[in-house]
Amino acid sequence: MSTILLGGLLKLDRPELLDGRALIGGQRVDTAATFAPTDPATGLPAGEVSDVDPHTARAAVDAAEAAFQAWRTTPPRRRSALLRAWFDTILAQREDLAKIIAWESGKPLQEARDEIAYGASYIEWYAEEIKRPSGDVLTPATADRKAVTTREPVGVVALVTPWNFPFAMIARKAAPALAAGCTVVAKPAEDTPLTTLAAAALALRAGLPPGVLNVTPASRSSTPALSQAWMDDRRVRKISFTGSTQVGRLLAHRASASLKRVSLELGGDAPFIVFDDADLDQAVRALMKAKFRNAGQACVAANRVYVQAGVREALTQRLILALAAMTVGAPAEGPADIGPLINARALEKVESLVADAVAEGARVLLGGQRLDRPGCFYPPTLVEAVRPSMAIAREEIFGPVVALQTFADEAEALRLANDTDYGLAAYVCTQDHARMWRMAEGLEVGMVGVNEGAISSEAAPFGGVKQSGYGREGAAEGLAEYQSVKYVCFGGLA
Ligand code: SIN
Repeated sequence: MSTILLGGLLKLDRPELLDGRALIGGQRVDTAATFAPTDPATGLPAGEVSDVDPHTARAAVDAAEAAFQAWRTTPPRRRSALLRAWFDTILAQREDLAKIIAWESGKPLQEARDEIAYGASYIEWYAEEIKRPSGDVLTPATADRKAVTTREPVGVVALVTPWNFPFAMIARKAAPALAAGCTVVAKPAEDTPLTTLAAAALALRAGLPPGVLNVTPASRSSTPALSQAWMDDRRVRKISFTGSTQVGRLLAHRASASLKRVSLELGGDAPFIVFDDADLDQAVRALMKAKFRNAGQACVAANRVYVQAGVREALTQRLILALAAMTVGAPAEGPADIGPLINARALEKVESLVADAVAEGARVLLGGQRLDRPGCFYPPTLVEAVRPSMAIAREEIFGPVVALQTFADEAEALRLANDTDYGLAAYVCTQDHARMWRMAEGLEVGMVGVNEGAISSEAAPFGGVKQSGYGREGAAEGLAEYQSVKYVCFGGLA
């Protein structure tokens, strides 16, 4: 199988990194069927990628299971050194990897480079973290006993990742799993499989033993059967999924039959609240980060923007200037602030949310029409007079649209912000320190940004509450997701 190279963007130092074949047991594997992801900048089919069926998905579990005993007993310091070598190899190949990310996701090249720095930070962080103490000496119940806890790897884990951050999301899941001593079967999103395959190839080059990290891409239509094969397989002890709430619910249900551990990082609908007392320049900077990263295609993107009545006009004027200055373009065309949306479905969804809002009485102040060119381009868009009942305020927009609502006071802001099934992130802009605390405590979410729109970090626990899922990624909490606690009691010591 060969991967077709499209566009000037893909002149790689190491062209062999661009290989669409599944990676199982350290070997490239040809599959009977293949599929072609779509280049979001042109709408054309691009590349040729393995379409893994349930039989091959189970073969990946065979490889991960076979590698597990040796990997779990590999000293943590050695696992740490291998993760560090993976980190170094990724940084050495940063430019190639950024081109692959930009090409298959459509994000600007600079944003792809930033994603590599972000994703690699998880690998470095867990390479360090696994050297730290992993158990406790307990106070025993009686004098003739000693009691300790240790942490053991969960086992073979299945990682199912989304298309919006094709490198950072696999790095954020795989790094703690591998550090803990788990072995991995990974299924990247059908829109962006090549980044994960390239990252796994770099892990092998860095010295990760064969079978420890296996990658099995699948098309949209083959994915349910692949997932079912893993959910039915008792050797797979855990699944970690990032994606829609609907799919997360289904996976949790299926995983329950074999009592797998489950981590779910699901949909957002984040409120972004600007109070009268905010520093408006700071608020706009924070909102631009929270809204326009990856063209708004992030679970933590600001989805509902609430502005207090007294600063509505001033904030709106600042936003018009900021959005009007933004540039839109394909990665191959040079620097731009945002690229295309991931696919035609995503573009149609954004269009229909804006059309519905307008039909219900909202007003478009800027943008609001897809760009007249091939590919899935939608411009930075500002919509005002949005009401809580509108679909644009209740569903994830996942696009470059700021949907403005107005509120009167703090109590109303909190009520509106919490009036959603989701609970991933929220943002508050205020200069009042007591209000910062009240809001942070009152918001029903897993993460709060106060006067800050870019809150994700390898050193902080990322995750949500309510229908945004459970489990955490990053920080010590992210490592614990891949570990089981064992209690050992030594008796007869009197
Ligand atoms: C996501 O969209 O799920 C991830 C965003 C992030 O890591 O900041």
